[in-house]
Amino acid sequence: MERWKTIIEPFRIKSVEPIRLTTVAERNELLQAAGYNLFNLHSDDVLIDLLTDSGTGAMSAEQWAGVQRGDESYAGSPSWYRFLESVRELFPFKHVIPTHQGRAAEKILFGVVGGPDKVVPNNTHFDTTRANIEFTGAEAVDLVVEEGRSPSAIHPFKGNMDTAALEAFIAERGVQHIPLVMVTVTNNSGGGQPVSLENLRAVRAICDRYGLPLFLDACRFAENAWFIKQREAGYADRSIPDIVREMAGLADGMTMSAKKDAIANIGGWLAMNDDAWAEQARNLEILTEGFPTYGGLAGRDLEAIAQGLREVVDEDYLRYRIRSTAYLGEALVEAGVPCVQPIGGHAVYLDAAALLPHIPPMEYPGQALAVALYREGGIRGCEIGTVMFGQHPDGSESPAPMELVRLAIPRRVYTQSHVDYVIEVVRWVAERAGELRGLQIVEQPQQLRHFTARFAPL
Ligand SMILES: Cc1ncc(COP(=O)(O)O)c(C=O)c1O
Repeated sequence: MERWKTIIEPFRIKSVEPIRLTTVAERNELLQAAGYNLFNLHSDDVLIDLLTDSGTGAMSAEQWAGVQRGDESYAGSPSWYRFLESVRELFPFKHVIPTHQGRAAEKILFGVVGGPDKVVPNNTHFDTTRANIEFTGAEAVDLVVEEGRSPSAIHPFKGNMDTAALEAFIAERGVQHIPLVMVTVTNNSGGGQPVSLENLRAVRAICDRYGLPLFLDACRFAENAWFIKQREAGYADRSIPDIVREMAGLADGMTMSAKKDAIANIGGWLAMNDDAWAEQARNLEILTEGFPTYGGLAGRDLEAIAQGLREVVDEDYLRYRIRSTAYLGEALVEAGVPCVQPIGGHAVYLDAAALLPHIPPMEYPGQALAVALYREGGIRGCEIGTVMFGQHPDGSESPAPMELVRLAIPRRVYTQSHVDYVIEVVRWVAERAGELRGLQIVEQPQQLRHFTARFAPL
């Protein structure tokens, strides 16, 4: 296959879902009704849905076969053992605690290790991770490398943790206040950027020096491993499962959303080596998720995850996956649309601050851009900026470090012509960026406001 330049979708389609075309006038009305929050739209009013890559992937024939095989016994189902084997094949942690999705794993983990005098460093906390930490009264701190904070800085591993900052942070706050160190692979909130094994080893060494556990937020572990294989010296000939196992081997535990790199529509897990923490975690799991051999999931979901984990580490899949994201990003960069670079694994991040310098952060440039993409082309992206991160537990508000719009690519769902359409719409909007206006928030909850806040155009 290497003879040909075109990297094709390594699958054919045997089941299709229609998508509905709407007009700009219709979408204007829909936006108004939704309070200019794209989370409030009905998804059948969306043409190309790039809101998230989470749980939106297309399952394979083998995964659907697994759904049929799913055994729904309350305890000790064979589906659980197949799930466990598949997880352990890549992440050989002693305890694996299934959950209904990633944030449930976070809620349990920080229910065990969080608390008012605690602080948890990460390269960049994802919003649910941050919220679950803050919910316990603890503090969530981001320590990504300098390049990771600059959308235009080119670096092969922009998701890396700033190890000097981590060490200074531990010295300043004191180990007794830090229950664990977390690293998110890839770094979603920082632009889907990978973390190198060299960096993970350096973080591990610091953790060892201070006796701190290291946990991975491993949602996009396979995409991270692909970047390591492509970009890190010494890994070109290593298999993806091998690289994943090396990443896991540096950690003491993980949280996982199976809605990403297990290509399932629901699911997750918490894994760790520590017996005492695991016992507490299982007690919490029983309160909200269910018995520890199904944890909020049906047997059929466990089967879909078990099979998805085998498929996601396939190199033909990963080559296509990362290439199709880069295809979108490179076309936009070429057209002069400011994007986070290099292009990340699961999404293209438009730099709304650079595209809309006339809209100040408190008028939410990312939201303005996301709304415009929906209005003009029926494309739904997601603001990752001051709407998502600007609200603080004490009720105050400040600008987020970056104003991004994430165009997340669902796994195995859209074809190249869908992506070509997205390129055309984004270019059209970008060429008229000067005409866009900001928004104000007219209604918001106290936490995670981006999901439900309502806006009005200025
Ligand atoms: C890096 C990261 N961590 C955690 C989560 C939470 O996972 P879930 O949506 O399954 O609760 C997500 C989901 O988008 C994520 O991207």
